[in-house]
Amino acid sequence: MLKLAQKDILRADQFSREEIDLIMETARGFEHELDGEKALETMRGKILSTLFFEPSTRTRLSFEAAMLRLGGEVISVAEAKSSSAAKGESLYDTIKTVEGYADVIVLRHPRIGAAAEAAAATNKPVLNAGDGAGQHPTQSLLDFYTIEKEQGKVEGLTVTLAGDLKHGRTVHSLADLLASYNVHFVFASPRALRMPTEIVEKLKARGVSVAETENLAEAVAASDVLYMTRIQGERFDDPSEYDRLKNAYILTRAMLARAKEGMTVMHPLPRVNEIATEVDSYPGAAYFRQAANGIPVRMALLALVTERA
Ligand code: CP
Repeated sequence: MLKLAQKDILRADQFSREEIDLIMETARGFEHELDGEKALETMRGKILSTLFFEPSTRTRLSFEAAMLRLGGEVISVAEAKSSSAAKGESLYDTIKTVEGYADVIVLRHPRIGAAAEAAAATNKPVLNAGDGAGQHPTQSLLDFYTIEKEQGKVEGLTVTLAGDLKHGRTVHSLADLLASYNVHFVFASPRALRMPTEIVEKLKARGVSVAETENLAEAVAASDVLYMTRIQGERFDDPSEYDRLKNAYILTRAMLARAKEGMTVMHPLPRVNEIATEVDSYPGAAYFRQAANGIPVRMALLALVTERA
């Protein structure tokens, strides 16, 4: 149980398969205990600090709910303007201050690499809750948990990542995490929003099977798992380019007529227009179950990283 003790969670490619197994097994155990409505004491006396310098609903609230479910306490900065960052305080000084208040820190920040900077500033475990267009490793772990739960396995699946693959940190992390497994990737995006070349090249160098397409309908027909993502308006320099691309892919019920039986539809959320609400009643539409899986997976992460080394 000591594999992740006092470790930072910064990138999805930091995990061995053994560590992923440990997180999944621990999360399944917590989910079972929650089903039994058992009050847990695992984190009694410990404090989580959530520092969110970009908006969030799921990640912040599920980390905080996970800590409360474990019997711990939470102190939170929910937006940059309510912290001393608004007065010009550096991230380093913020982290050096918060390490005196909390046992574990969850950080979301608009700058790629900010979580690594925070981790370098403190010996307390830092969990990256999204660093700009970089990584979102705890999301990819709950995505992995969801795929296993919905499909009964990960190995051998065709997984399509669709939408804004250029800016989407969830898809960057999920690609990294699944690269250790025998999956076939289809990357479906408008040309301007392709998966960054360095990620595609890194996957291919590891022998991972990758196909790229602009045709969402074709990708849907080939998939076991279809992972839709939002076009990330906040990451575009040119608003007219966002307007051109924002409705490029919209998954409709009609498109699912060509899907394999049992295909799982996922989305990290929030969605804007990319999945029509008529898809919500499709049995494989797993995105709200996926969001709920954030609780046991983040409980597992909090419990594991706060173990004594
Ligand atoms: N999936 C995700 O990161 O959602 P939030 O931005 O609401 O945290």
